[in-house]
Amino acid sequence: MFNESIKGLAIKNNGIYIDATFGRGGHTQGILDQLGDDGKVIAFDQDITAIDYAQQYFNDARLEVIHSPFANMRTILSKKNQLGKINGILMDLGVSSPQLDNAERGFSFNAEGPLDMRMDQTVGISASEWLATTNETEIANVIYQFGEERRSRHIASAIKQFQAETPLETTLQLANIVASVVKTKKNKHPATRTFQAIRIFINQELEQLSDTLEQTLDILAPKGRLSIITFHSIEDRIVKQFIQKKSKQRQLPKGLPIMNNETEKMPLKDLGKSFASTKEIDNSRRSRSAILRIAEKTLIC
Ligand SMILES: C[S@@+](CC[C@H](N)C(=O)[O-])C[C@H]1O[C@@H](n2cnc3c(N)ncnc32)[C@H](O)[C@@H]1O
Repeated sequence: MFNESIKGLAIKNNGIYIDATFGRGGHTQGILDQLGDDGKVIAFDQDITAIDYAQQYFNDARLEVIHSPFANMRTILSKKNQLGKINGILMDLGVSSPQLDNAERGFSFNAEGPLDMRMDQTVGISASEWLATTNETEIANVIYQFGEERRSRHIASAIKQFQAETPLETTLQLANIVASVVKTKKNKHPATRTFQAIRIFINQELEQLSDTLEQTLDILAPKGRLSIITFHSIEDRIVKQFIQKKSKQRQLPKGLPIMNNETEKMPLKDLGKSFASTKEIDNSRRSRSAILRIAEKTLIC
């Protein structure tokens, strides 16, 4: 999937590419490796530890790293006079392994840490603060909507019962509350969906994604590529529907006398999707649900 996602960008020697989700820069490096001296990568990450990492370990004049949610992309590129000039945008969505592995960040239901879950700890409120200030119905709605968790109401009720006695402040407290009302499934921790839902909500991941997808049409140059890896079905649905909406002509009734130049011109061409290979899944269980989608901006706008 790594190789396919880079290949999907159809990298031009002197092109300008965006890595919207720098992480630890694996994809950025993959792009840099294929660029010539005049090429450029502009990388975004909203997690300051990713930016620190880039500054420490990436010493390449062709790379610019920006600490920002990717939803600010159009504004930032407009100030740089780069709208319509970007040859490809890569998004490798979700949390990074370092974020998951550092218990202090609060993303993991396997390790004790503060229940934070913010990718950008300089803004917003932590998961713990949100759970303390939100009513049961709203918590249940978030867990249902962003985690597709059928036991959402039971979980929200158990959270409120716990909070009536003790402040809910750590990852394992939450994991244990969920485990008390959700059955353990083979190979899946009972709190997987709940943690996913709260993380998506706290970081406004879906709003950011939808908003940024719309922006990409102003950002990409003609024939510029989108290469997007998602890790769960809710995210993938958003990417899939966006590409379909921007690439599929509406069906007109058969037999209408329509000239060629009157057919609807679509801004994107759908170049398909792919899944992780069995080898990749063996190496990383997380890639089980990964889907890569590629699209190309057409010449018409
Ligand atoms: C799956 S990791 C990317 C890993 C990266 N491709 C690599 O090779 O190391 C996702 C990264 O994107 C960042 N991220 C997620 N959503 C973001 C957003 N809306 N804006 C900016 N960065 C975001 C996370 O902080 C995380 O570092």
